[in-house]
Amino acid sequence: MSQCQHQTIHQKDYKVPDYLVDTVELTFDLSPEDTRVLSRLAIRSNHDRSNGASPLVLDGEELTLVSLKLDGVEVKRDAYRVDDASLTLLAPPESFVLEVETRIKPKENSALSGLYASGPMLCTQCEAEGFRRITYFTDRPDVMAVYTVTLRADKASCPVLLANGNLVDRGDLPDGRHFAVWHDPFKKPSYLFAVVAGDLVHIADRFTTMSGRAVQLEIYVEERNKDKCEHALRSLMRAMRWDEEKFGREYDLDTYMVVAVDDFNMGAMENKGLNVFNSRYVLASPESATDDDYEAIEEVIGHEYFHNWTGNRITCRDWFQLSLKEGLTIFRDQEFSADMQSRPVKRIADVKSLRSAQFAEDAGPLAHPVRPESYVEINNFYSMTVYHKGGEVIRMLQTLLGREAFRAGMDLYFERHDGQAVRVDEFVQAMADAGKRDLSQFMLWYDQAGTPVLTVSDDYRPESGSYTLTVTQSCPSTPGQPEKKPFHIPLAMGLLDRDGNELPLQLAGEAAAAGTSRVLELRGETETFTFAGIKERPVPSLLRNFSAPVKLQYPYSDEDLNLLMTRDSDPFVRWEAGQVQAVKLIMGLTGEIQAGRQAQVPESFIESFRRLLADDSQDRAFLAETLTLPAESYLAEQMAVIDPDAIHQARELVRSTVGRRLWSELTAVRAACAPKAPYRPDDGLAGCRRLKNLCLAYLMAAGGQEAIDACMAQYRSADNMTDSLGALAQLTSCACPERDEALASFYDCWRGDRGVIDKWFTHQALSRLPDTMDRVLALLEHPDFDLRNPNRVRSLVGAFSQGNQVRFHDAGGRGYRFLADQILRLNAINPQIAARMLTPFSRWRRYDAHRQELMKKELERILAEPGLARDVYELAAKSL
Ligand code: ARG
Ligand code: ZN
Repeated sequence: MSQCQHQTIHQKDYKVPDYLVDTVELTFDLSPEDTRVLSRLAIRSNHDRSNGASPLVLDGEELTLVSLKLDGVEVKRDAYRVDDASLTLLAPPESFVLEVETRIKPKENSALSGLYASGPMLCTQCEAEGFRRITYFTDRPDVMAVYTVTLRADKASCPVLLANGNLVDRGDLPDGRHFAVWHDPFKKPSYLFAVVAGDLVHIADRFTTMSGRAVQLEIYVEERNKDKCEHALRSLMRAMRWDEEKFGREYDLDTYMVVAVDDFNMGAMENKGLNVFNSRYVLASPESATDDDYEAIEEVIGHEYFHNWTGNRITCRDWFQLSLKEGLTIFRDQEFSADMQSRPVKRIADVKSLRSAQFAEDAGPLAHPVRPESYVEINNFYSMTVYHKGGEVIRMLQTLLGREAFRAGMDLYFERHDGQAVRVDEFVQAMADAGKRDLSQFMLWYDQAGTPVLTVSDDYRPESGSYTLTVTQSCPSTPGQPEKKPFHIPLAMGLLDRDGNELPLQLAGEAAAAGTSRVLELRGETETFTFAGIKERPVPSLLRNFSAPVKLQYPYSDEDLNLLMTRDSDPFVRWEAGQVQAVKLIMGLTGEIQAGRQAQVPESFIESFRRLLADDSQDRAFLAETLTLPAESYLAEQMAVIDPDAIHQARELVRSTVGRRLWSELTAVRAACAPKAPYRPDDGLAGCRRLKNLCLAYLMAAGGQEAIDACMAQYRSADNMTDSLGALAQLTSCACPERDEALASFYDCWRGDRGVIDKWFTHQALSRLPDTMDRVLALLEHPDFDLRNPNRVRSLVGAFSQGNQVRFHDAGGRGYRFLADQILRLNAINPQIAARMLTPFSRWRRYDAHRQELMKKELERILAEPGLARDVYELAAKSL
C-alpha cells in the first residue's frame, strides 16, 4: 500500500526556491548514540509576497525536533507543522533567523546517509539528500549558503574534529570534552556539507599553487592505516598540478583534507575542503594493493579533486542536472589518468566498461537519458549513464570543437558561472559560444536515451577514384521515448590502402587533401561522404578513439580486420579490430554449441594469437588488452536471447585451446615478464604483470598439473598483491587440492586487512566451478561477512551476481533466489545498496522463457515485501 505513496519528481516541475538561506551556523554535540544539532539559519524570502507569504517547507527525515525559534522567540504550535519528511512554517516573515534544535542517532543509521558511525568514527554523507537526515533544511542544490560549524565531542574518543573550510577556533570544555569551529567562506549547497570526528591520525604535505599560495594537504585514517596513505597524497598533488596545467584551475582554500572510512555507499565524496572516501580508494601498501588498486586510487582522488571546480565552484541547479558535474568530472579524471599512464590502454578500459555496463543499462527497462526527465529516488540515478555516458558526451564536444576551442569553452563556463548553480544548458552554451558552433541538435545527447546504431556501407568507383561512405543512424526506443530524432555524432575516421598506408583525405568539393584522420559530422538520419583521389578500394578505419558512444556496423572481412589490427594508426581501432574478430569467433562457436554440434577454434585465430605473442615491440599492457577475450557480459549483449551456458562454454573452449596450442609461447612470454628486481608499485612494470598473469590464466585454462604447479609457485613466491592474486584467482576456478590450500593460506595471511579480505571474498564469488553457489552461501555465514558493510556486500553478493554470469544464471534458479533474499535483507539495512544489487534482475527479458519466469518471480517477491524502500521499489517496479 505505502508504495503508492512513492512520488515521482519531474524535471518540468522545477520552481525557484521560495526562500533562500544566506548563512548556516551549526553546533553539534556529538555522540554515536545521541547527537544534538543546533541550527541557526538566516533566511530571506525569494518570492512575490503581494498575495501573502508562501509557507517555508524544510526537508527533514529521521529527526527528533526539540525546539524551534524564530528571531529568538519560540514558534507557537499552530504556526508550524511537522511530518516524517518535513517541517513547515506556515507564514514566515520576509527575512528572519530560524533556530532549530534536533536530535539524531548516528549509530542506528545503517543507511550510511546523513551522520553515521563507521567503526570508531562519526562521518557524514550528504549527497544527494542526506543533509535532511542531520537537520531541517531546504535540501536542494540551488540553495547555497555560507556555513560555520561548531563541533563538540569527548576529547579522548574523538580527538580529531573536522568540517569544511578553515579551522577558526578550538579549545577544551568541561567534562573531558573539547570543541572546534570551522568556517567555509565559499557558498555551497547542503550536499557538500561534511563533518568527521574520531580518533584519527594523518599524514600531510604542502602544495604550492600556480599563483604561489601554500596549501596544506592532509589524509586522515585510523592509526593502523597510517603507512598506507602515501600514494593517495602523491596522487592528490599530481591531480592539483594537472588541473592547473590542463585547465588553468587552482585550488582555493588553505587546506584540503581527505578522510578514509570503511563503511561508504559509493566511491568517495567531494565535500568542500573535506573529501570523505571509501577506504578502498585511499589505502594502499606495496604488499597489499594491486596495480589496479593503485590506478583506481589515483583516478578517484583526481575525480574528487576535480569536482572542486566542476561541481563545487559551479554546481547543479537541480538533480536532473547531475551529469553537469559528474559527466564532466568523469571526463576530467579519465584525461588525468590517461596522462599519468598509457592513454590508449586507459581509453580501451573506459570503452570496455561503458560497453558492458552502460550499453546494457541503455538497452533495458531502466534506460534513462543522461539528463533524466523524472525520478522517484535520485540515488538510483548515480548511474553508468549519468556518469560514463555523460563523460562520453563531454568527450564528443571536445572532438567536435577541437582541443583548443573546447578549452576556451571551459574557461568561458568558469568565467560566466563561478559561484552559481546551473543547468547542462549553460555548459553547452559556453561551448557553443567559444566554438562558434550551433549545438542545439547536440543537446539531444542529454535528453534522449538509448545507444545509437551506425550502419555504414561504402561504394568505390575506380573510374573516378571516388569512395563514398554512407552512414545511417538509428536508435532503439526506450521507456517513454518510442521515437528518436537523429543525433549530432562525431565520427572520427581514416582510410587505409591494401598495404596499410593511411590515405590523404579529400572530400568532394575540397581543394586539397587535409590530413589522414578526420571527424565527419553526422546530423541527418543518413549522410554520405565522398572522398576524391582514391586509387584503390580502401579499408575504412571507423570510430577512431571511439569518438561516439554508439554501436558500429560495417561488414568487415577477416582480411580487413587483420589489416586494421596490424596497421591502423589509431590504437583503439587496432584493439577493436581484434575484438570484433573474437566476438565473431565466439558467437559462431556459441551457435555450434547450442545446435549440439562439435565446435572448433579455427587455425587462423590461433595463428594470429601466436603472431601477437611473438611480437615484443608492443606495449605490454596494450598487448594484454589485445589478447584478452571479450567478457561474457559483453558477448551476452550480442545475443538476441542470452544463453549464459553456451557463451561460457564457447569462451572457455577458446581459452583452453589457446592454452594448449600456444603453451610454449605463453610460457616464454610469461618468463620474459618475470620480475628482475623486487616489486615497486611505480616500477613501470604493471603492463608486464598484467600480461604475465593473462598468460598464466591461459595456461590454467589448458589444464594439467604443470599449470597448477606454476600457479602455486607464483602464489608462493609473489612479492606483490598483483601476482599473488593473479595466481589465487586462477586457483579458485580449479578443482584441485591446491585451491583450498591457497585460499586458506591467503586468508590466514591477510585476515586483518579489510581491503584484501574483500578480494578473497570476490575471487571465490567469481569462481567458474560448478560448486560456486554453495561456496557463496557458506561465505554468507563467514564471521567476516557483514551485510552492513557495503564493500563486503559488493565483494560477495555483487561480484557473484554481476561478475559471474554462468553461475549466477544457473537454470535451477538458486542464484536468483539468493540475490532476492539478500536484497530483501539489505532493504531494511541500506536501501541504496539494496537497490544497486537489483541490476542483474533488470535484464530479465534478455533471457530464455524459463529464466525469465524465475527472475520475474523474484522481482515480484521483492515488490510484495511490505515496507520496501523507495530506492528498491523504483528499480524493481520499473524492471517488471
Ligand atoms: N559525488 C560523488 C562522486 O561523484 C558521489 C556521491 C554519491 N552518493 C550517493 N549516495 N548518491 O564521487
Ligand atoms: Zn563525481
